[in-house]
Amino acid sequence: MSKLGVGIAAKRVCGRGFHNSVRLASRQPLVLNGIEYATDNYTNVPASIASRVHPHPQLPYLENQPLALLRGEIERVLGARYMPIRAPSPVVSTRLNFDELGFPEDHPGRQPSDTYFVNKNTCLRTHTSAHQIGAFRSGNLRWLLTADVFRRDEIDSSHYPVFHQMEGASVWNHEELVPGGSVEQECVAMEQKLANVPMEIQDQVSVEDAGGWQPKHEANNRQGAELSMRHLKATLNTLVYELFQPRWALESQSDEPLKVRWIPAFFPFTSPSFEVEVWFRGKWLEILGSGVVQQSILDQSGLADKMGWAFGLGLERIAMVLFSIPDIRLFWSQDKRFLGQFAKQSGRSLPLMTFKPYSKHPPCYKDVSFWLPPNFHENDLFETVRDCAGDLVEDVECIDSFVHLKTQKASRCYRVNYRSMDRNLENEQINTLHNAVLDRLRREFSLEIR
Ligand code: DAH
Repeated sequence: MSKLGVGIAAKRVCGRGFHNSVRLASRQPLVLNGIEYATDNYTNVPASIASRVHPHPQLPYLENQPLALLRGEIERVLGARYMPIRAPSPVVSTRLNFDELGFPEDHPGRQPSDTYFVNKNTCLRTHTSAHQIGAFRSGNLRWLLTADVFRRDEIDSSHYPVFHQMEGASVWNHEELVPGGSVEQECVAMEQKLANVPMEIQDQVSVEDAGGWQPKHEANNRQGAELSMRHLKATLNTLVYELFQPRWALESQSDEPLKVRWIPAFFPFTSPSFEVEVWFRGKWLEILGSGVVQQSILDQSGLADKMGWAFGLGLERIAMVLFSIPDIRLFWSQDKRFLGQFAKQSGRSLPLMTFKPYSKHPPCYKDVSFWLPPNFHENDLFETVRDCAGDLVEDVECIDSFVHLKTQKASRCYRVNYRSMDRNLENEQINTLHNAVLDRLRREFSLEIR
């Protein structure tokens, strides 16, 4: 999948030169949700991640959870025509997560450095698109599915190995996709509303740049594909407006309108494909990926005679900017000082809720420098830190890298920032934690720590 902003921002340069690695596997079965799974040399799910695997996504369904409020708001804006679906367990086959969606064998998203593998053919879903075909197959033609998704990645205030996405889709029979038909009528209604609100829509993407029409579109229903794309754009522009306009109106110091832009993208399961960005607090914020559903997906869903669109967005990313939540770890906090701020009775409209940080405790950093062994990926380091220190780790950053002139050995130095969201940490406690991290790095990856 793209390293799409809906979940994950571009990786830091420091990580690029590493090989991908497979963690040493213990050949014991892995137990997830009380079910035993066979393991192999792909297995790389640590205990801290295994304990986050539930039969259904949790946070977006908890009371007073900002992710739940946002999910509710998106469902409200898109309306009752979209069937809300709560995803099943995140343990899925790689067929579902990758193959059926058209990911090539060598796609980077399939690497054990990026994905949690239960075993070679089973992983923790990396995106909600894993359930596109399933949702269509159960007879839903318009739906909104919410799920927790898992990715191995860097550690900082906006990255966490578990986060939440919503996937939406709408498909129609070809007879509905004709001029004057029900789809066009819906487009006109949405477009008329959008024409009368203060929002600038930048959308000069040519369909060719966005992947082009699919062969079937060209052959027998180009008009239907164009209407699907028009409906997608009107729907998502409406969603962006409803989510962001109240905040924008409050924060922007001028009468500049809210701005949204459409840019060409590539996804193996849509064509044409787009990303949507919103101008917010001085930069373009990437919020979702979308496109016209590939015919092969519809064929596998038993909907060969239909056509339509799909999108996927990241809930944390939107909630963090809308509610001013400064650190992604806060979503997992049970602290009343966090959840209490999102209690319904506070009377504000949802997009206007603002999180007020409670006391910020001092950070404490420790460095780790080592000679790079072959086949080591920096995600292995991040994972080890996460697994030892849990939510006490705020940030891990590469602060130095060089190659020794004589020995040609490569060196890296990473700074690990420890900070608790809700209490002061003792230096001694951090030393113990950090030593545990170093021990495991030595043991599991034969790191030569300097
Ligand atoms: N699954 C994609 C990701 O996480 C996002 C996405 C893109 C979903 C395009 C879609 C879509 O449904 O049509 O990177």
